[in-house]
Amino acid sequence: MKDQFGREIDYLRISVTDLCNLRCRYCMPMEGIPKREHREILSIEEIEEIGIAAANCGIKKIRVTGGEPLVRRGIIEICARLSKIPGVRELCLTTNGALLSKFAQELRGAGVSRLNISLDTLNAERYREITRVGQLEDVLRGIDAAEAAGFSGIKINTVLIGGGNDGEIQDIAALAEKKDRHVRFLELMPTGECASWDRERFVDCSEVLRVLPGLVLEGIDGVEQRYRMPGWRGSIGLIRPVSAHFCPACNRIRVTSLGMLKPCLHSAEEIPLRGLHGKELEQAIREGIQGKPRRHHLEAGKSGSLREMNEIGG
Ligand code: 5AD
Ligand code: SF4
Repeated sequence: MKDQFGREIDYLRISVTDLCNLRCRYCMPMEGIPKREHREILSIEEIEEIGIAAANCGIKKIRVTGGEPLVRRGIIEICARLSKIPGVRELCLTTNGALLSKFAQELRGAGVSRLNISLDTLNAERYREITRVGQLEDVLRGIDAAEAAGFSGIKINTVLIGGGNDGEIQDIAALAEKKDRHVRFLELMPTGECASWDRERFVDCSEVLRVLPGLVLEGIDGVEQRYRMPGWRGSIGLIRPVSAHFCPACNRIRVTSLGMLKPCLHSAEEIPLRGLHGKELEQAIREGIQGKPRRHHLEAGKSGSLREMNEIGG
C-alpha cells in the first residue's frame, strides 16, 4: 500500500534477534549487549503472524535481519514459515557470513531466495580489527558455500570506513568481476556506537566513483544506485544514506526483535505490535505505513532513532 507521500511500501525488514556473534566497532560495544529474556524476543509464531499481516497490507518482500539472524534459535523454521506466506514473493536474509557455511544449504531449502553478506575488508588482520572477534576465512567460506548451495546474485555489503577499508575499494569491488555478485558500498551512518566518531571516518560514496572511474550508472533501484563495470559479470551498487537523500525512494518498514514497528530507521517513532492479532495487527501496520515520515535528518549529523543498529537490523 501507499504511504501519505505516495511511496509504495512493499518491503518489510524483520529483526529476529538483537544478538550478534561479531562485535563490529561501528555497531556493537565490546562487551556485547545485555541478553534479553527469551520471552522478550518475538517468538517464531509472532514473527509468522506479523509476516502474514504485513502481506495482507501489501508487503511483497521480507528480509530477515538481526543482530545476526543465524544465531537465532529456530532460524531455519522462521525462514521456512515466512517463505510460505501467500503474497511474499521474495524472502531475503542479511548475514555477517560467519556461520553461513554451516547454514547455506538449509536456508536454501527453507525458501530463502536471496542473501546479503556483510564484508567490510578482504584483509584478515583488518577484519579482526573491525569485527574484534571475527575470522575473515569464515565469511569467505560462507560465500563459497552459499554459491555452492545455489544462491546466485549474492549481495556483498561493505560499509566504507575512512582510515580503515577505504584503500580497499578496488579489491572489494573485484569480487564482482568474475562472478555474478553484486558488491555494494554503504556510507557509514552516524548512529549508535559510531555517532561520536571523527568526521574523517565517514566516507562519501563518491570515493568509489573516484577510484573506479570506469563504472557506468545503470539505474536506481530503491535506495541504491546500480553501476556496471564493462566486462564484469557482477555489478556494483552505492547506498548513500548520508550524501544523497534517498528517502523519496524508500519502500520499507521495519520490525525490531522486540516487536516494535519502525516506519523509519532514523525516527524515534515506534508502534508496539505485540499482543495484537488478526485485523488489529493489520490495522497497526497500516497506521505505521500511513504515518511514515517524509525523510530523515541524518545530514544534521545524527540519527533520531532511539535504538542501535543491532536492534533494528540496518
Ligand atoms: N552505518 C551503516 N551501516 C551499518 N551497519 C551497521 N551499523 C551501520 C552504520 N552505522 C550495517 C552492517 C551490515 C548491515 C546489517 O548494517 O555492516 O552490513
Ligand atoms: Fe526511509 Fe526513513 Fe530510511 Fe529515509 S530514513 S530512507 S524515510 S527508512
